[in-house]
Amino acid sequence: MTDTQNAILRVGENEYPCPLLTGTENETAFDIRKLRAESGLISFDDGFGNTGSCESAITYIDGDAGILRYRGYPIEQLAEKSSFLESSYLVLYGELPTADQLERFRRRVQENAAIHTAMEHHFDGFPSHSNPMAVLSAMLNSLGCYYPEMASNRREEDLERFDEAAAMLLSKVRTIAAMTYRMKMGKPFTFPRRDLNYCQNFLHMMFSDPYHEYEDTAGLAEALDLFFLLHADHEQNCSTTTVRMVGSGHANLFASVSAGVCALWGPLHGGANQAVIEMLEEIHDSGDDGSRFIEDAKNGKARLMGFGHRVYKNYDPRARILGKAAERVLAAIGDANDPLLAIARNLEKSALEDEYFIERKLYPNVDFYSGLILTAAGIPVEFFTTMFAIGRMPGWMAHWKENASDPKARIHRPRQIYQGANQRDYLPIDQR
Ligand code: CMC
Repeated sequence: MTDTQNAILRVGENEYPCPLLTGTENETAFDIRKLRAESGLISFDDGFGNTGSCESAITYIDGDAGILRYRGYPIEQLAEKSSFLESSYLVLYGELPTADQLERFRRRVQENAAIHTAMEHHFDGFPSHSNPMAVLSAMLNSLGCYYPEMASNRREEDLERFDEAAAMLLSKVRTIAAMTYRMKMGKPFTFPRRDLNYCQNFLHMMFSDPYHEYEDTAGLAEALDLFFLLHADHEQNCSTTTVRMVGSGHANLFASVSAGVCALWGPLHGGANQAVIEMLEEIHDSGDDGSRFIEDAKNGKARLMGFGHRVYKNYDPRARILGKAAERVLAAIGDANDPLLAIARNLEKSALEDEYFIERKLYPNVDFYSGLILTAAGIPVEFFTTMFAIGRMPGWMAHWKENASDPKARIHRPRQIYQGANQRDYLPIDQR
């Protein structure tokens, strides 16, 4: 039951008014912050599927309508007209930059591309089979040791140095990813160049050798820029919520985004882009066109990776943009008939016409086509989730800042319903 300002929760004879809270897009919540104090009751929502954990002004998603906006700007417009760096500025600071602001931001990111030479030695300590996500998380956290003035764990001080730290992380996350690749390949590190843009520099650091400069003849830097832009933020997903959670205890930005990398790692979250390509390869190698796999997914024997989303119950708008981009990129590298693209298109078509997927509102998500672009750009599958992490860096940092700047923000601390043993007495070991 609701009245104009409150939802009323009735338990037995008692009524508890919960104030209504309405967002700028008219999404309404009822506020239960005082419920426990007034009634002894807590809310239960495992997996936080219906829990608003914060108020945020960064990203808006309407999952039923397939809408995604950064700071109010539709993702389709940003994908067409903006760049990753410009959208990162937007996500971080709330407004599109002027030409001057963008140039200063770009320069700051550029000047921060290289890492402290002492940090190069950290790579000697990782075995070459290390997972790049483990290396990335460790290295991002280690960065805080080199810049302790930005990682004080005193909120006001860390906020004061935020602009510097954010430009540094945005730049160095890409350098660390490229250095990890070089380390794993047994190749010398490639230094960043001042004359290249963000993605050109990344490809250069990944693939240039002392005796051979990498050349991008197929517009791959542009495709990567789009990939990063589309991943820049996605409101309260698992990794972003982790970053906010860690930051809510006043942990510094470096520690918080390092935790975000770990949260992103799993195959149900950022790891799905890797799982999609592995699935497409497996289908291809088994001689299936996708139909058998669809049946397995329906029978619960497999999960169609890159399909379904906790929030989108419609086509993920990022998948639509990336699907078209994948076709452009594959054509540009002369692989328009890539068998994996054909299988992906076939899977998508079959799933969109199948009652199982229709009923459950399962549509392609951002990861369904992104792997095809990354493969075309020469990125090894093992690095796909790292690429997601590079793209998500602006979002993680914007959420850390939003939380840290809120004077009313409290440490995140959910409750639970205890379902364990009742009190019992300790038994000495010889009596058990
Ligand atoms: N293939 C087959 N069935 C599926 C799939 C799928 N990909 N996803 C969900 N279902 C079924 C699921 O079995 C369940 O069926 P039933 O009602 O009969 O038990 C129903 O749909 C609801 O699924 P759920 O697991 O309760 O949904 P969720 O909101 O908890 O999970 C998800 C969302 C993204 C984890 C899930 O859809 C999934 O595992 N997808 C594949 C992995 C993937 O692509 N992840 C990337 C997500 S987008 C990038 C990001 O944000 O990280």
